[in-house]
Amino acid sequence: MPYSLKDKRVLIVGGGSDIAAALATDLLEDGARVTIAGRNIERTAAAAKAVGDTVRHIALDLSDEESIRAAADQVRVAGGLDHLVSVATERGNGPVASLERRALLAAFDAKVVGPILLAKHFASLIAEEGSLLFFSGLAAWRPKPGHVAMAATNGSVSTLASALAVELAPTRVNAVSPGVIDTSNWDTVVPDRQEFFRHVAASAPARRVGDPSDVSAAARALLINPYITGETLHVDGGARWS
Ligand SMILES: NC(=O)c1ccc[n+]([C@@H]2O[C@H](COP(=O)([O-])OP(=O)(O)OC[C@H]3O[C@@H](n4cnc5c(N)ncnc54)[C@H](OP(=O)(O)O)[C@@H]3O)[C@@H](O)[C@H]2O)c1
Repeated sequence: MPYSLKDKRVLIVGGGSDIAAALATDLLEDGARVTIAGRNIERTAAAAKAVGDTVRHIALDLSDEESIRAAADQVRVAGGLDHLVSVATERGNGPVASLERRALLAAFDAKVVGPILLAKHFASLIAEEGSLLFFSGLAAWRPKPGHVAMAATNGSVSTLASALAVELAPTRVNAVSPGVIDTSNWDTVVPDRQEFFRHVAASAPARRVGDPSDVSAAARALLINPYITGETLHVDGGARWS
């Protein structure tokens, strides 16, 4: 019988992002039971409410193991999970000469150490045919000056997904690697978002930037397919080859 996301319990960590909102919205339409987790409980509650009244929220800070343990305890009491997704990121960008240890550690907490601790505390709560899904990114495969932390953390996500898939089998572990996606946070990264998108679209084989719905579709494909594990699925319009 084909696997479906109907009635599956999905926890999304880093729920304040546009990509998380798109994924949560689509999962609700699939009939899944969605919980959003974030480090700021008010922002997380607002993000959950914006997606739908049935979406639950919990506190979880990837830089704090006690917070991860407490969230796992809540999930255990509630009966467990089918899928755990972490979209969280802390960018820590800048020329290497300017990088500060604190920002680097925050970036590694969000993308590398935090996800490994999620696996530590949540893997035993994942149901049969369930999975863990983490977010990598194009910066690992097309490194650019000023993006050392982003490249290193995103590359590590891909590696940890394969390593965890081997160790936690048969629980599946995968990664999604978005390219440039039309999300609001680009306003804080580039001076002119639309101009930047035009430039990216011109060189990408897909001739456009991505939409959060493109990423959501790829993420749900990985959640739903019981024979994919240890993989990184690139959703970058072919940008790695341009
Ligand atoms: N957008 C793109 O074009 C693009 C491109 C390549 C890869 N990606 C990847 O796709 C994912 C989603 O991207 P996005 O742009 O939608 O992300 P975003 O808007 O920057 O959101 C990141 C989220 O991570 C949360 N977060 C950061 N540190 C955390 C921690 N210690 N504990 C818990 N939550 C934490 C933030 O919480 P607060 O709200 O508390 O700050 C925020 O909700 C990321 O992994 C990103 O690297 C995106």
